[in-house]
Amino acid sequence: MANASGHFSPSIPSLRKRNNPPCIGIYRYGFPSAEGISKRVFCSSTIQGAEVSPSQSRVPRLISKGCKLVGCGSAVPNLKVSNDDLAKIVDTSDEWISVRTGIHNRYVLTSNDSLTALAAEAAQKALQMAEVDPDDVDLVLLCTSTPEDLFGSATQIQKALGCKNNPLAYDITAACSGFLLGLVSAACYIRGGGFSNVLVIGADALSRYVDWTDRGTCILFGDAAGAVLVQACNSEEDGLFGFDMHSDGDGLRNLNAPIVENEVDRTLGSNGSVLGFPPRRSSYSCIQMKGNEVFRFAVRCVPQSVESSLQKAGLTASSIDWLLLHQANQRILDAVATRLEVPPERVISNLANYGNTSAASIPLALDEAVRGGKVKSGDTIAAAGFGAGLTWGSAIVRWR
Ligand code: COA
Repeated sequence: MANASGHFSPSIPSLRKRNNPPCIGIYRYGFPSAEGISKRVFCSSTIQGAEVSPSQSRVPRLISKGCKLVGCGSAVPNLKVSNDDLAKIVDTSDEWISVRTGIHNRYVLTSNDSLTALAAEAAQKALQMAEVDPDDVDLVLLCTSTPEDLFGSATQIQKALGCKNNPLAYDITAACSGFLLGLVSAACYIRGGGFSNVLVIGADALSRYVDWTDRGTCILFGDAAGAVLVQACNSEEDGLFGFDMHSDGDGLRNLNAPIVENEVDRTLGSNGSVLGFPPRRSSYSCIQMKGNEVFRFAVRCVPQSVESSLQKAGLTASSIDWLLLHQANQRILDAVATRLEVPPERVISNLANYGNTSAASIPLALDEAVRGGKVKSGDTIAAAGFGAGLTWGSAIVRWR
């Protein structure tokens, strides 16, 4: 197992320590709901290169910056699929799915729809809320395991948004933890790289890789996109208080969709050429999952990760406003919340309407909660992602 926090501290002080004698001070955070963070140690120093706009140069600059979440958006496909609809194609029932998962509906892309367009729509909404022009975006991180091109789809979002300054754009593949990892990556680009406006988009179309005859998996997943704009700010406004990330390759056996050689190409290579060459064309198999193993992993590892992030942030679970977990299964959400002693009214849940939308689930739920007036400016959120890889992680953030 690898623990990202062991190599890579999120705190601004440690970044500066390597380069400059830090000046240590106490900074007072003013938002009322986070009792535990009224005092935080911080260091102030600045190391800068020549003043150039981020679009002109990517030369790393170490600047005492913070980062904050300033806009969010989401989009779902038009086609809604209910549990009763699924009961027409596999041996299941609305009651079984509702009781075991909490899911009632999900949205699914049709063959005419584009995940990239959905992601661009979510990103556009996030930019509008943040009142940031697409030309001022300097990084697009598309967190997805289902891009519409082998080489990634992030650049197509940059194009769809009409970002004239050609911001850097690339994909991050980390399944249902993708958005969390994207968020922390954005913070690192801002804190250490001189970037100013980073779009973090979680978008997935797992419906394209689900075996629609397998009742154990097809009932769980839906398609969606969600986005957050992360913006540079001064260190006093910093909105990422702590994070914790892990991976365990051994756990891949419990949730995967490996490549398989295409049947149709089996005759290739039988012409006397070197055995195994040329390679056959491959595609991805359907999602294979040991549901109860994944369930156990989530309930065991996610609370530990959230506790670790809270500790780094100098907070306790009782001082956060919202627990926002990857929306996999209501029973997982309930079990994690119970372990952390977070009451149900502070747990954000929208999976009843969307199912498990993989990398999209956290920004989709955040967007709904923000636009619905639930999450308010200054609220502290403990967010956690977990999924295939296995990967999992958490972050404590403040909304705007
Ligand atoms: N409808 C009706 N019966 C179903 C069914 C369905 N959709 N899916 C499975 N069953 C049956 C099984 O065949 C089994 O029958 P049996 O006892 O006769 O063998 C029975 O229900 C129990 O199956 P089991 O797999 O033990 O159920 P479960 O309580 O573990 O629930 C999941 C299955 C998938 C809902 C649950 O394990 C889960 O949500 N796990 C986490 C998965 C997840 O979140 N993955 C993504 C992580 S990012």
